[in-house]
Amino acid sequence: MSSNTAIEKVIYSEDEVRERIREVAAEISTRYAGRTLKLIGVLKGSVFFLTSLAQEMTIPVKIDFLGISSFSTQQKSGSGLVRISKDLDESIEGEDVLLVEDIIDTGFTTRYLLQTLAGRGPNSVAICTLLDRTVRRIVQIPVDFRCFEIPDRFVVGYGLDHKQLYRNLRCIAVLSQNMSS
Ligand code: IMP
Ligand code: MG
Repeated sequence: MSSNTAIEKVIYSEDEVRERIREVAAEISTRYAGRTLKLIGVLKGSVFFLTSLAQEMTIPVKIDFLGISSFSTQQKSGSGLVRISKDLDESIEGEDVLLVEDIIDTGFTTRYLLQTLAGRGPNSVAICTLLDRTVRRIVQIPVDFRCFEIPDRFVVGYGLDHKQLYRNLRCIAVLSQNMSS
């Protein structure tokens, strides 16, 4: 990590991330006590978060994944275009669903996924995100569970990438300005 000159600073250390995920997992476990929860991860960014979250939960969970097409943030902000490139393996009809996101930025991606999932007859759909950047929100999203609210800087780590790199960092870090542009 120290040899990684692209990283400007760590905003949440590995310990801080783990501890916060533990707290949120406990909150979710309490909220859904006595029920089984279907966690739906959005590939590829939410894989690390979903895994940690699931391991800290004390209620029965099922897991499924959705893949979405990647547009640049700028394009998405302009058009709100999102497309499913890999659908869920199983039906969510009658299930309590938790959509697990890496980051909610403008909100376009999450709104699209929320509408898609809600149309498939689940018992309930809630949203859990590792990072929430509300300062850039364009469409309103009901965020049920969030680990961290972050400032308007491009971040990487714990699943989040820059050109597919840095997903495996254990911390969450700000990329230096000249790298993230
Ligand atoms: P939204 O549709 O604008 O909310 O975009 C959310 C998606 O943009 C996330 O799932 C990420 O893939 C990507 N994204 C937004 N901000 C960042 C960031 O700071 N680092 C890495 N990916 C980001
Ligand atoms: Mg994502």
